[in-house]
Amino acid sequence: MTFYRQDDGRHEIAAAYSERLVPWLFTHWADRLIDLARPGGSAEVIDLACGTGLITGALLARLDDGARVHSVDLDPAALAYASAAFSDDRVSWHEADASQLPCESSTADVVVCNQGLQFFPDRPAVSAEVLRVLRPGGRLALAVWGTLAANPWPAAMAAAIGDALGEEARRASGTLGLSKAPCCALKTCSTTKALMTF
Ligand SMILES: C[S@@+](CC[C@H](N)C(=O)[O-])C[C@H]1O[C@@H](n2cnc3c(N)ncnc32)[C@H](O)[C@@H]1O
Repeated sequence: MTFYRQDDGRHEIAAAYSERLVPWLFTHWADRLIDLARPGGSAEVIDLACGTGLITGALLARLDDGARVHSVDLDPAALAYASAAFSDDRVSWHEADASQLPCESSTADVVVCNQGLQFFPDRPAVSAEVLRVLRPGGRLALAVWGTLAANPWPAAMAAAIGDALGEEARRASGTLGLSKAPCCALKTCSTTKALMTF
């Protein structure tokens, strides 16, 4: 596949993220997150901050023909990678901010978000948006890292990056989680309270 070699490197970053980091850091969490979300075979699901499509792909393997997945991310390069990797009529791909979801109100059975929450600058706005799009009784399931102190692998990676590239790079690579989360929090809730309490 050559599609990700067409521009200034963003597509190569998306490919490297998906092929190197995702298998190491995230793949083993995907089914656990979906188990928590319990979407049901024909559910309407939003994959919030879908990145290169790990969770969307795992959802598709478990959903029926009538299901719909709306996969949303800010990054067009990640979406390009994801839509090529998981081409499926049940998915629609949206380049959008999590605080302005391109989805009808009260339509989603489940919102899933794997390692996106910590990057949203305005979590109350995202929380309100998740609440708007969920049907009454709908569920939000999210995974988010805690601090480096609770995560030895990423801490070692941040230290190595710091050794090679300096303090600024170390600090940037060390801001991966939220201080109130443990090592890695998997949460589900019927309201969006979890977004506000991390
Ligand atoms: C660590 S990646 C996780 C991606 C994916 N969920 C996965 O499991 O591989 C975080 C993602 O959040 C996206 N993101 C960050 N801020 C966002 C926002 N405000 N709205 C939508 N997506 C956002 C990034 O573009 C990136 O793809």
